[in-house]
Amino acid sequence: MSQQVKTGMQHYIEIGRQKQQAEQQYREKMRKKRFDTIAAHGMYSLEEASSNYGSTMEPLVLSPAQHFENSDHLEAALSYATPAWGYTRIHNPSLHYLEETLSLLEGYGYDGETNSTVTSSGMSAIFMATQPFLEDPVPGVNFIADAKCYGGTFMLFNERYHKERNIDVRWIEDSSDLSHWEHSIDEHTRFLYVEMPSNPSLTVVDLEGLSALAHHHNLPLIVDATIATPALMRPLRHGADIVIHSLSKAIGGSGSAIAGAIIAKNHITTKLNNDDLKANFTGYLKLWPMRDHGPALSPMSAHFLLNDIRTLRTRVDAMSKNALTVAKQLESIPSVEAVYYPGLPSNAGHTTAKRYMQLVDHPEQSNRYGHLISFTVASGAQATRDTLDRLSLIWRATDLGRHKSVAVIPSISTHQQQGETGRSLASIPANLIRLSIGMEHPDDLMTDLEQALQ
Ligand SMILES: Cc1ncc(COP(=O)(O)O)c(C=O)c1O
Repeated sequence: MSQQVKTGMQHYIEIGRQKQQAEQQYREKMRKKRFDTIAAHGMYSLEEASSNYGSTMEPLVLSPAQHFENSDHLEAALSYATPAWGYTRIHNPSLHYLEETLSLLEGYGYDGETNSTVTSSGMSAIFMATQPFLEDPVPGVNFIADAKCYGGTFMLFNERYHKERNIDVRWIEDSSDLSHWEHSIDEHTRFLYVEMPSNPSLTVVDLEGLSALAHHHNLPLIVDATIATPALMRPLRHGADIVIHSLSKAIGGSGSAIAGAIIAKNHITTKLNNDDLKANFTGYLKLWPMRDHGPALSPMSAHFLLNDIRTLRTRVDAMSKNALTVAKQLESIPSVEAVYYPGLPSNAGHTTAKRYMQLVDHPEQSNRYGHLISFTVASGAQATRDTLDRLSLIWRATDLGRHKSVAVIPSISTHQQQGETGRSLASIPANLIRLSIGMEHPDDLMTDLEQALQ
């Protein structure tokens, strides 16, 4: 590199440093705000609006690529010497606003700093968050995962990792019993993976106990907290290293986008000998593996999601209250065999859920248990299909977390492809209906459910 070029690049490196400093100051300011304020404003400031036509909304940058002032600017940006977005597969300003907002919300109440990346779907978030730990598969390499997880996650772990790459997936059938996790760990274990609450069984786990166990063995704990959202539960505060969200669900409640997110604490626990990965897990993902795998989110989707996030806490509160009302009433219907909802005192995980699932910034009676309920129909598989077919207000779709209530039979849809053995590991019988409760009045939902269950 010639002296002249180097000097020219340094100008842009210095501009980048100042920009990062100003951003860090604003981040510190926002970290002191309450959850709803962060959700509404994110990282977009009044000062910034003046260089954005005065717009009160974050800029939506659809351009695939950034224009550079000159070759020094281009080289400084593309060698990652100065913060720039460059090309939307690698980064983009609209994605940045979403990532920063999620990082602040998931880190709310956690003392340390957090980092985040968004991805094209929840599944790509799960892939990107787990793949770096499995890159050098020495014989015996394994990870330990909650068998009660979303069907797509089961298939990624079982088909892609286990069958295609011979990586040992050690399934935990009862995630609440920490001794099962402990007995599965050995010297070649790379991470522990849990879904809380799980889809569709709604099981919960002692997050603090599980993260202490993971860290005792120098392993990261990865938690898919899609069903809870940061409005109810923020696993990083309880020791988890990495949190995953399918933003396609309650976080993006209006249902306008498929997206995912990974949020990590700075300095995760891992045996991997990679300082960049440890210090800023998602920063590492964005600059290196994601650059090559290419699971970038569309800026348009990021814009929709930012708008959904502004009302996250109030939506989750309303949906959770509705879900508790419906779950209680379902319990008293004779044709319902069992109801699975962590908010019911009859639920095996109720005490644990009470400890971890609380509506953020709500001082009194603050437990909320989310929008997802599962129940079994007493007279078997055909009666379950008939019940689903009779619904006339609640939608039949493989979807959840929406303003509108949605129902599905997991054994013939979301968890069909994992087969009988996979479903039996995950305890998903043919007579189970998964019900995502929306913003409707619960009386109207019960009228529909009662007629369907007759
Ligand atoms: C708990 C959970 N995690 C991850 C996913 C995958 O998300 P996506 O559909 O955005 O890829 C889903 C999808 O239903 C889910 O329910």
